[in-house]
Amino acid sequence: MKQPTSIRPAEGKLGVLLPGMGAVATTTIAGVLLARKGKGVPVGSLTQMGTIRLGRRTDKRVPKIADFVPLASLSKLEFGGWDIFPDTAFEAAEHAKVLEGHHIAEVRDELEAIHPMKGVFYPGYVKRLHGTHMKVARTKADMVEQVRDDIRTFKRDRGCDRLVAVWCGSTEAYLTPTAVHATVQSFEEGLLKDDPMISNAQIYAWACIKERVPFANGAPNLCVDFPAVWDLARELRVPIAGKDFKTGQTLMKTILAPGFKARMLGLAGWYSTNILGNRDGEVLEDPDSFRSKEVSKLGVLEHILQPDIYKELYGDFVHKVRIDYYKPRGDQKEGWDNIDVFGWLGYPMQIKVNFLCRDSILAAPVVLDLALMLDLAQRADLQGTQEWLSFYFKSPMTAPNLYPEHDLFIQLMKLKNTLRWMMGEEPISHLGTEYYD
Ligand SMILES: NC(=O)c1ccc[n+]([C@@H]2O[C@H](COP(=O)([O-])OP(=O)(O)OC[C@H]3O[C@@H](n4cnc5c(N)ncnc54)[C@H](O)[C@@H]3O)[C@@H](O)[C@H]2O)c1
Repeated sequence: MKQPTSIRPAEGKLGVLLPGMGAVATTTIAGVLLARKGKGVPVGSLTQMGTIRLGRRTDKRVPKIADFVPLASLSKLEFGGWDIFPDTAFEAAEHAKVLEGHHIAEVRDELEAIHPMKGVFYPGYVKRLHGTHMKVARTKADMVEQVRDDIRTFKRDRGCDRLVAVWCGSTEAYLTPTAVHATVQSFEEGLLKDDPMISNAQIYAWACIKERVPFANGAPNLCVDFPAVWDLARELRVPIAGKDFKTGQTLMKTILAPGFKARMLGLAGWYSTNILGNRDGEVLEDPDSFRSKEVSKLGVLEHILQPDIYKELYGDFVHKVRIDYYKPRGDQKEGWDNIDVFGWLGYPMQIKVNFLCRDSILAAPVVLDLALMLDLAQRADLQGTQEWLSFYFKSPMTAPNLYPEHDLFIQLMKLKNTLRWMMGEEPISHLGTEYYD
């Protein structure tokens, strides 16, 4: 990446486009609107709550991140998006049952004014949903054009200076890159021929990038992680990031596993199971969608623990992940982890983690941060995969041939050092001595 010589200021309005306006999207929007009115605190958001140390410890320079880098302010955000159901953001928030009635009532008017644009929906990629609010087009290429048209109309009508997009749609069936994903030309031809390997999420992403709108993928399905899209993003100088928001159980895994490794404790097995009852859980009942999620969740331990290097400690662990749709629980997921570790002389020990979490409450700050950071990246003229945003993802995208970094603490260091680098500050190496700190 080329170090920015200057970063364009965050002037005017930033439009935040969310394909998929369900639980996560509406919790994000309502939370921002509440925070704007001083009726809620954006807990979990690094851009709103976090600080960054600059220079030496003795310098005592620890500004808030929002005061250090020029981010769009919450008061300048305009929300919009697409869904395959016509519910307003108010109706969708009520249906999702994440936020309590008093919170939704406080921002009811603003939420009611947000109507999703008609969605792109070829049903094979999400079998459990039967939408009623969809675009019709002759070919997938025409679909891309319709989404581009929506983007331009939204920008003009809402008076936005810049836009970003974060995919908050349902998890699509598991796909791997094929010949159609190889180059910009093969993808464009695939769009004209309605290639079955081009999914809904890919159509939104392609349209956004064509409109130079930075794009993050919050779900685990194939979307901005193939060569054609990387080439297009670089060519049009658009930042992209993905994939699958890191929340809940995987967040815990990437907090705990680096700790075991730091202390050289061995791992015999990690069994994870979840119950959740929201629409996301219902979609994941379909084995094809579950496969996308499973692959995304399974990679984490392998990469953190490096079994090829630490054979005695991590060469033979068993890792299983289960997700069960259980309607009564709604968005309030419950995750159990049974972790079999071993210590000195191989003596076994067990750790049990029972996380009664709230999925969308953990995901909302991630959506907000990604929107603000991608907008910053674009104003700093960074393009292509933004690896420094790995912090937010279960399955971080990297440059080709590099392995992803999953350790939350290394990810945070990388993120903060990237912000320092963008602003011309020294990176912090934590080389603390009496001469150099
Ligand atoms: N909540 C979390 O902690 C978390 C973590 C990681 C990833 N995710 C992912 O985020 C996504 C959103 O989660 P959620 O809980 O809000 O799910 P949700 O089911 O409440 O919302 C998804 C919305 O996407 C819509 N949708 C589906 N296909 C669409 C299309 N082609 N175009 C437009 N809209 C479409 C659905 O109608 C629905 O309203 C899911 O893919 C989920 O796996 C969530």
